[in-house]
Amino acid sequence: MADMHYHDYLQLDKILNAQLLESDKQNLSAHDEMLFIVIHQTYELWFKQLHHEIDSIAAIMGKPALNDNSPELQAVVHRLNRCITILRVLVHQIDIMETMTPMDFLDFRDMLRPASGFQSWQFKQLEAKLGLKFDTRHGKEYYTSQLRKEHVDIIKKSEGDKSLLELINSWLERMPLAPPLSGDPNSFWQIYRKSYGGSLAEAEKGNIHELEEVFFNSGSQPSNPRSLSPAASRAALFIMLYRGYPLLQQPFQLLNCLLEIDEQLSSWRYRHMNMVHRMIGTRIGTGGSSGKDYLKAAADKHYIFREIAQLNSFLIERRKLPALPNEMETRLGFVHQ
Ligand code: HEM
Repeated sequence: MADMHYHDYLQLDKILNAQLLESDKQNLSAHDEMLFIVIHQTYELWFKQLHHEIDSIAAIMGKPALNDNSPELQAVVHRLNRCITILRVLVHQIDIMETMTPMDFLDFRDMLRPASGFQSWQFKQLEAKLGLKFDTRHGKEYYTSQLRKEHVDIIKKSEGDKSLLELINSWLERMPLAPPLSGDPNSFWQIYRKSYGGSLAEAEKGNIHELEEVFFNSGSQPSNPRSLSPAASRAALFIMLYRGYPLLQQPFQLLNCLLEIDEQLSSWRYRHMNMVHRMIGTRIGTGGSSGKDYLKAAADKHYIFREIAQLNSFLIERRKLPALPNEMETRLGFVHQ
């Protein structure tokens, strides 16, 4: 067998010959079109890597019996952290894009119509795999009309599969560590309700109804379908409150990673939007949307893990946390033989 060569292994023939400038084809000079293509291609490669990580994470989280005290959960947290690091790079890549001025962009912008980053099916599929539903998308019809049918089908398939958010919900529901519900006034959740109610300022008193709805309603309201069930929300809150115990440290890291992913995605959306504003002002996008206004609405609406972030409204001070029974403390600690 011939020795492996760097050039062949990386298929550089294909990659380095994939920058075909429209301005070259039309014999018009547009120096920055090379940068524009390379940046978009690197984004797509990183999107591919993100899919690779999220698919592997979903495969682990989808197992019916994921052991929270096993290396598998650690692998999930490790890979989510990798996704976060990639997303940070994606946010920073906008710095390079912004070295192109609006006039440089005008040299070739019209040659791209009606192509747009909006047609990046990998980006839309990533949102779907994480948990963004079609009904929650801003400008749903716009998305189906702008993408090729085969790409819409790919995204639809992911929308039909269990998303990371749904897998997290099932994992939280299965979690054996959170205290059970009970009508006993001395039980954990009854004490918690009281402590939380007591911690609210006058203007926040309405939060107690929200607490009931989020954590203790058995069925979700059809008008306000939540992704996290009450049982999953209780488990997540318990993890956040008692994250100092060894057995809850990885689960806490996992939840924290989800919030970080939303934050990085949102940073990307805002930076992209501001760059668009700076580049084309209030003109419509090459894809035909309202441009900046469309992007702003999508950025506001597309937080995927917002229900997990919302749980932070129901925390109470550490010093007021109900003490855990001895038997439970032992279960949450390192196992001694
Ligand atoms: C000069 C630079 C850029 C401009 C002026 C620009 C402009 C726009 C505009 C106006 C939209 C809204 C849809 C439309 O009507 O076209 C959009 C969407 C989008 N662009 Fe860009 N873009 C730029 C660079 C990038 C880069 C480097 C990426 C990286 C992949 C990207 C990815 C996206 C994505 C994923 C969307 C869809 C966002 C969503 O639906 O939430 N764009 N862009």
